[in-house]
Amino acid sequence: MAQARDQWTTRTGFILAAVGSAIGLGNIWRYPYVVYDNGGGAFLLPYFFALLTAGIPILLLEYSLGHKYRGSGPLSFRRLSKKWEWLGWWQSLIAFLISGYYMVILGWALSYTYYSFGTQWGSETQTFFLEKYLGAADFGSFTPQLKVLIPVVLLWAFVYYVMRQQAHRGIEKLARILMPLLVIMLVIITIRGVTLPGAAEGLNTLFTPDFTALADPQVWVAAYGQVFFSLSVGFATMITYASYLNKKEDLANSGLVAAFANSGFEFMAAIGIFGALGFLAAQSGVGVDEVVNQGVILAFVIFPQIINELPFLNSFFGVTFFGALVFAGLTSIVSLLEPAISAIRDKTGAARTTVVNWIVGLAALMSVLYATDGGLNYLDTIDHYLNSYGLLIAATLMAVATAWTTRKVGELQSHINQVSDVHIGKWWVICVSVVTPVMLIIMTGLNIRTEWLVPYSGYPMPWLIGMGWGALVAVLIAAVILQSKEWKVNTGQAEQQEKEGA
Ligand code: TRP
Repeated sequence: MAQARDQWTTRTGFILAAVGSAIGLGNIWRYPYVVYDNGGGAFLLPYFFALLTAGIPILLLEYSLGHKYRGSGPLSFRRLSKKWEWLGWWQSLIAFLISGYYMVILGWALSYTYYSFGTQWGSETQTFFLEKYLGAADFGSFTPQLKVLIPVVLLWAFVYYVMRQQAHRGIEKLARILMPLLVIMLVIITIRGVTLPGAAEGLNTLFTPDFTALADPQVWVAAYGQVFFSLSVGFATMITYASYLNKKEDLANSGLVAAFANSGFEFMAAIGIFGALGFLAAQSGVGVDEVVNQGVILAFVIFPQIINELPFLNSFFGVTFFGALVFAGLTSIVSLLEPAISAIRDKTGAARTTVVNWIVGLAALMSVLYATDGGLNYLDTIDHYLNSYGLLIAATLMAVATAWTTRKVGELQSHINQVSDVHIGKWWVICVSVVTPVMLIIMTGLNIRTEWLVPYSGYPMPWLIGMGWGALVAVLIAAVILQSKEWKVNTGQAEQQEKEGA
């Protein structure tokens, strides 16, 4: 006898969990830099285009799959069509792989929350981060770094505790506590950022539009990548979360709320962070463009410098910023683990705690790789491949599965409209079945070409192919094997199963 599905307590609980998943490192450190690097104010055009024609439609597609078929990724796809179960596994396993390194970044953030007391990183923040803290070495080096490993182990212990409980007691409660705190912290960071001397220059640098960027395909790739990653679509998270939602709950409205909360949050973060960057530039007497940097360096090298320079309450703002990274990341990492947990439970009927022991245990083991002195290279490589290739390919396949091979988009649309106040129209079907997949295929092709000519980040090609494509192919093989295994639970249509009283 299969166990009952986990269920959110209310629709608000679901929205909080979904927003908690969406708001993460992607919003705080990735978004500001992506905007700056891809045309500033002009980037908002591809960003909103990608959000409205791809991000929100795919988000709703995932909601409708999980809600209509009442299953994790593999079970929902299996109920869509027997041929597509593997896609659900592939997505869920990629999410699981991401959790391995995502947690290590949270570990750094936890260390830095601690180092904020008395700004222990000193004045040489770059040397401190790369040499003293990470012990950064080249590819091929695997010496574990205790300073990184300890916070990572602590965080895994906490996440293990959360995940052992049913979704409404674990994930939902975590989001109910952390999300309000996070909003307060963000408001503090943003107000501090924009009231610093020099902030205006930072904001000018961020928003000054460079319209020539719009002709560069890479800018569009960046917009899609950012929107998908930030909204947590593509890796079965939202399918799984929607499957825990009551049968009669509104989907369209929830999706719009979640998407706009997520964008609002990243917009505010960008303003606060560029205000602070303007301040740092003014203090050091250089242009803002000289202090801007991408995610890792921005958060762990540049931000500590800003905190050093603040006129007062340095430690307080340090704790607020790094604490916000930890909180935002915790509600996201649970959403990277839940797809695989839910999938294995659906397939085997095993108890939640048993599956959590395995999944969290294995994910924590994976983290050790990134907590070594060569870890930053592995992390950056895997992240790049999973999130620029894996994500776009997974989203394309989802469109192919629902719109092209099974032609079920119409049914999914009716499902959404049956339960939702806001009715979604033909535009949704067109976005999901034509606009998005076509754009994604073009962009993935362009991406592969560009990186064939110039390897990502100048890394050695064998490592890029071995680790990056290697990871994607390894989980693909695992997915195909898993599809071939017997289901221990009823995979009939969800409605039918409920009639039978299962
Ligand atoms: N959205 C999260 C962030 O912005 C990351 C994330 C969590 C994610 N769950 C996901 C990304 C599922 C893709 C799929 O940091």
